[in-house]
Amino acid sequence: PVIYTITPTYSRPVQKAELTRLANTFRQVARLHWVLVEDSAVGTELVSRFVAGLLRSGGPPCTHLHALTPRRFKRPGQPRATEQRNAGLAWVRQRHQRLPAPQPGVVFFADDDNTYSLELFQEMRTTHKVSVWPVGLAGGRRYERPVVEKGKVVGWYTGWRAGRPFPIDMAGFAVSLQVILSNPKAIFRRHGSQPGMQESDFLRQITTVEELEPKANNCTKVLVWHTRTEKVNLSNEPKYHLDSVKIEV
Ligand code: UGA
Ligand code: MN
Repeated sequence: PVIYTITPTYSRPVQKAELTRLANTFRQVARLHWVLVEDSAVGTELVSRFVAGLLRSGGPPCTHLHALTPRRFKRPGQPRATEQRNAGLAWVRQRHQRLPAPQPGVVFFADDDNTYSLELFQEMRTTHKVSVWPVGLAGGRRYERPVVEKGKVVGWYTGWRAGRPFPIDMAGFAVSLQVILSNPKAIFRRHGSQPGMQESDFLRQITTVEELEPKANNCTKVLVWHTRTEKVNLSNEPKYHLDSVKIEV
């Protein structure tokens, strides 16, 4: 099955560094299709050039989309990347509607700042409906994970808002393409969505806890880390362009 990784991304000083790191991971994964969705009104030159370079250098197939987060949603407490993930989902659904036969596939929401092991992709590739696994450095703990007994998820080890229906980070699950296609209305919603509820709201539309497929050795191995990149210090950046050349960073 092909793995569609849907990555929301937005313009900031570290963007190209993040995308480079991600590309270096993804280019090592077979049958991966990168759906890169910019948070912008139009595709930016930086990301367009990046994608062109990726394809030229034998990187993974990459589809470059954009969807702008309305200004009113760009503030603390609002979930991030709702519009971008939905744009990615819409693209995946459209692509497969046009194909004559159903194709096996997996959809994974891969934020641009996390750290992904190659083993993670091997694990998720066998997703029948919805698979889950631990996420390192999430929820205010060294890791969060689904608690598994006899091959079934029976609870959650989490330090943050444990009452959520699916207390899991975006990086902690994958969904089969068949489930995405047979639930055409399942999308990410904001509707007063509280922090950390996006994953639960989405998963609730497509699955139940009983149905979840534990990966990563019954959820005892961390194969993905919710890393966050430090904000760069640009306090010595000159007000006006001083260098003799203009360089994209
Ligand atoms: C946590 C979760 O890991 C995210 O999946 C979830 O979307 C987010 O919380 C949330 O608050 O909604 P966190 O590290 O706090 O993640 O969020 P970011 O990594 O800053 O953003 C998640 C994704 O959205 C990234 O891929 C980022 O590039 C993108 N993003 C962020 C945008 O597209 N636009 C923005 O304005 C901000
Ligand atoms: Mn993040």
